[in-house]
Amino acid sequence: MLICGRKEKRPKIDSLYLTSNVVLWIVMKLTVKDILDKKKKKEKIVVLTAYDALFASLQEECDVDVLLVGDSLGMVLLGHSSTVPVTLRDMIHHTKAVSRGSKNSLIVADMPYGVCEQGPEHTVRSALRLIKEGGAHAVKIEGGQEKKKQIQALAEAGIPVMGHLGLTPQSVEKLGGYRVQGKQAKDAAKIEKDALFLEKAGAFSIVLECVPRLLAKRISKKLKIPTIGIGAGSDCDGQVLVTQDLLGMGENSCYRFVRQYTNLRKTIKKSIQSYVSDVRSGKFPNAKESF
Ligand code: KIV
Repeated sequence: MLICGRKEKRPKIDSLYLTSNVVLWIVMKLTVKDILDKKKKKEKIVVLTAYDALFASLQEECDVDVLLVGDSLGMVLLGHSSTVPVTLRDMIHHTKAVSRGSKNSLIVADMPYGVCEQGPEHTVRSALRLIKEGGAHAVKIEGGQEKKKQIQALAEAGIPVMGHLGLTPQSVEKLGGYRVQGKQAKDAAKIEKDALFLEKAGAFSIVLECVPRLLAKRISKKLKIPTIGIGAGSDCDGQVLVTQDLLGMGENSCYRFVRQYTNLRKTIKKSIQSYVSDVRSGKFPNAKESF
């Protein structure tokens, strides 16, 4: 895509100098291949969750590489106590919004609980809906070898897959809660084996959630595809966080692995409280704010 624009800093763009202050922009869309190349070039991959057009556009302006439409939206936005109730319809709805807000980022949409469980054909049909209707470029699937048929079916259909190992929230009941996975040698070996399996099956990257740092390091070294860590230490090839966590928007205190860069919840509440009080006292609107 070619865009003629003013000279300014724009992310992921190759620019061709035209005159002193006008530049012809060649807008570069980030692809799965770019993500793979980043590992080769030892460039860290920046991933954040996005659930709507507003945040997607802000994140793109901040040069985030991958927008993950995570099924965490069920807990962060929709008031569910886990990701389990999130439906394919929810995911398509939010993926559509993210793709409206983003032009250049790679959009990865989560396959919600219950899709893979209905077999490989249903998995491919659902992934195609996330891509064709939602505008996703790739899908994310939780689990390893137990999803072999589904992952192979997606690979045969040419659909890019991001894996997800370690703490897989859709299996929170089976895992006995939101806790670090792979602390025991036997569990660590299973995660490592699953990671190698996912790479062989054609996944282009793997999220490693809440696993010991050294395990994540070992896996990241063994794989050619990038690992994206969340609570998995700094040796992963990229990092992901839930955006609302890093912005301090949640009601509850965050997990240890989250770095809270601000406390937007406090700021937002203060502003809303001021509005409430101004309306009640008659201070809003004033003459300037009226016609
Ligand atoms: O659903 C989600 O947001 C995720 C990330 C936290 C990795 O799976």
